[in-house]
Amino acid sequence: MKIEPFKLERYYTLHEHTAKYSLCNSDCEAMTIADLLSLENGAKKAFENTWLGYTHTQGSPELRRDITTIYSKITAEDVIVCAGAQEPIFLFSHAVLNPDDEVIVQTPCYQSLQSVPESIGCKVLSWHVRYQKNVPCFDIEALKKMITNKTKVIYLNAPHNPTGFLFTKEEQQAIIELARINNIIIFCDEVYRELEHKPSFAIPAFADAYENGVSIGVMSKAYGLPGLRIGWLATQNQTILEKVAILKEYTTICNAGPSEFLAGVALRNRHAILDKNLKIIQDNLPLYDTFFTKYADLFSWYKPNAGPIAFVKMHFDTNDMDFAEQVLKEKSVLILPSGVYDFKGYFRIGFGRQKTPEALEQFESFVLENLMGK
Ligand SMILES: Cc1ncc(COP(=O)(O)O)c(C=O)c1O
Repeated sequence: MKIEPFKLERYYTLHEHTAKYSLCNSDCEAMTIADLLSLENGAKKAFENTWLGYTHTQGSPELRRDITTIYSKITAEDVIVCAGAQEPIFLFSHAVLNPDDEVIVQTPCYQSLQSVPESIGCKVLSWHVRYQKNVPCFDIEALKKMITNKTKVIYLNAPHNPTGFLFTKEEQQAIIELARINNIIIFCDEVYRELEHKPSFAIPAFADAYENGVSIGVMSKAYGLPGLRIGWLATQNQTILEKVAILKEYTTICNAGPSEFLAGVALRNRHAILDKNLKIIQDNLPLYDTFFTKYADLFSWYKPNAGPIAFVKMHFDTNDMDFAEQVLKEKSVLILPSGVYDFKGYFRIGFGRQKTPEALEQFESFVLENLMGK
C-alpha cells in the first residue's frame, strides 16, 4: 500500500508544538485529568482503581452505552470504539472498499477521507465546494450526476473541515434518498457534531438517519480531549461493523483502558463541557467579526453555523503556503494554509481555544506591519 503524506498532519507535526501562538486549531480547549475527574462524584477513586489489563476490542460496554446518548437509534451494539477518528476512517475504508470501487468525497477534505480510498486503488471523485458570494455550498444536483453503478461510498464531513459548512436537514435527507436508491453507503465524519452555534442548526447523525449510514465521532474536538485518543464508528449496518472489528485486530486490538474510563466521565458530563467550549467560541467569534470588518479589503470569511473553524479568503496576490510561513516566522503565529488541502488562496482559523484573542492580536500586528496598502 502506497499512501500520500498527510499534508495537514505533517504541517501540525512540524509546527504545533513550537509556534508560540496558534490561530488555527480545530480542537476546543482541553483540560487536565484532575479537572475532568472533578466533574463526577467518585470518579477520582474509580479512575485510580481502573484495571490495566486488555480491554474489549469493541470498546467497553459502559463506554458504548455512554456514546449512544448522542444518538437516537444507535445502540451499544452498533458502536465500535477506536483510536481517535483517524483509525475508523482507515479501518472502514479498508474493510469496505475494493480496488475498482468508486467513491465520492466532499472536497476540500480532511485528507485521509480521500487518500485512504486512493491508496486502496479506488477511483476517487471530488464533490467540490462552490462559493456563492463567499458562502460555501455543495450542489446536490452535481452529486447526483457523479453517481455511477460503481459508486460504493459517499464520504461526507458534517460540520465540514475546513469550510465550516453544515448541511440543512433537507439537504441531508436529499443526499440520503440519493444514496438509498443507488444502494450507496454514506460515511460521515461527524467529529465537530454537537458544536452547533445554535441548537436549531443541529442535524441528525447519518448513522441514525440512514440504515447504511456510518458516523464517526471523537472526544478530540467538541469535548476538547484529543489526548484521550478515543473515537468511534457507529452504524446500524452490522456487516460493516463486524468487518471493521476484524480489521481492528491488526491495528490497535483494543483501546487504552484509562482513556475509555475518562471518555465515559466526559460523555456523562458532556453538557457542562460543551457549554464551556461553546462559551469560548461565542466569546471569540465577535473578535473575528470585528477583525474581518476592519480588514475587509484584505480578507473575507464565512462565519459558520457550527464547529470551531472557518476558512478565510485572501484578496491580495500571494501563495497561501508562503504567507503562512511568513506569519509563523515573523510573529510565531500558526495559521493553516489552504495548500495543505490542495486548495488555493485561503487559510483556516480556529476559535475554540481560550488564547485566541492573544493570537489574533499578534496576527493583526503582522497585518499592520506587512499588508497595509496592498
Ligand atoms: C474532519 C476530521 N476528521 C478526523 C480527524 C482526526 O481526529 P483525531 O485526531 O481525533 O483522530 C480530524 C482532526 O483534525 C478532522 O478534522
